[in-house]
Amino acid sequence: MRPMTVELNKIYCGDALKTLQLFKTESVNCIVSSPPYYALRNYNVDGQIGLEPTPKQYLKRLADVFMECRRVLTKDGTMWIVIGDSYAGSGRGIGDINKKGIQQKASFVGEFCKPYQLDGYKGKDLIGIPWSLAFALRAGGWYLRQDIIWHKPNPMPESIRDRCTKAHEYVFLFSKSAKYYFAHNAILEPAKYDGRKKMTHEGSAKYLNDAAGIATQNVSKGGRERWPNKQRGFSTKDGDTGFPAQHHGSNIPMLPARNKRSVWTVPTRGFKGAHFATFPPDLIRTCIIAGCPQGGIVLDPFMGAGTTAVVAKKLGRNFIGIELNSDYIRLAEERLGSV
Ligand SMILES: C[S@@+](CC[C@H](N)C(=O)[O-])C[C@H]1O[C@@H](n2cnc3c(N)ncnc32)[C@H](O)[C@@H]1O
Repeated sequence: MRPMTVELNKIYCGDALKTLQLFKTESVNCIVSSPPYYALRNYNVDGQIGLEPTPKQYLKRLADVFMECRRVLTKDGTMWIVIGDSYAGSGRGIGDINKKGIQQKASFVGEFCKPYQLDGYKGKDLIGIPWSLAFALRAGGWYLRQDIIWHKPNPMPESIRDRCTKAHEYVFLFSKSAKYYFAHNAILEPAKYDGRKKMTHEGSAKYLNDAAGIATQNVSKGGRERWPNKQRGFSTKDGDTGFPAQHHGSNIPMLPARNKRSVWTVPTRGFKGAHFATFPPDLIRTCIIAGCPQGGIVLDPFMGAGTTAVVAKKLGRNFIGIELNSDYIRLAEERLGSV
């Protein structure tokens, strides 16, 4: 198949795998995406992923898409996948079992997915979708670099009494090679006291260096003096990088900053017009800033209402999207029109 000339800043309407197969090898810098959940939503379009009869079939389709993404990514590129889990028996109706252990009546999603009956899962089992996918991609050649916890302070309420309310999803970071582009300095976070003994450690050069990952030149001796109140703030943000402006000048005193941690607290934000879960712009800002250089290309093979495109555009990156449902593409284009 001859590769097609891909237009930048465009969302292609079609199946993710078939469309990716037309893209040139090593033609995008970074991939950021949230694939359809398993057995939770109906996107009302033929060929959609997420309503396969078994988790195994769903995972195979997702893995095929993300392995094709690997071919399309530059050698130094990264891929960030936001993915949540599903419960066997949570296929909106059909899988849910009542007190007598009987499956409840089918709903539109349940008509397609019968996770309660298949693949050896018992009703109520957590399927383990995120890790199953991560291991499959690692086996396919991806470097599985990190599991980041997306902590949702405003999770969907759940009427359950025998487990905790689910308040997280995963953001998996994959790379194509062992060495790759990762702008860690651009996503530093404010260093807070981390529990080490106050006087001894809080202001020590080791702490600051460790925390910021950078040399500190203007650090005076003696613990707390190096944490005057006026330096504790970390409010100054440098436009679209999120990097504290103070760090750009070489002789400017360093504010306490540290390497970004692997738990990210970001509230979910519904987007008017989309009846499905869009991921919050603040969640993927970090991925794009760290994973794609200015002027580079971010690909999202499951573009939905266009959040990746909107954030990429705001940050001075290009985007390429794929989406099966043309109504969502129209929605995304409307959003992009006002960026
Ligand atoms: C979780 S949503 C993505 C939401 C997106 N991150 C946003 O913020 O709007 C998953 C999307 O994948 C799309 N989709 C499902 N199957 C697909 C396929 N085979 N090829 C391309 N897109 C597909 C759905 O229509 C849906 O819009």
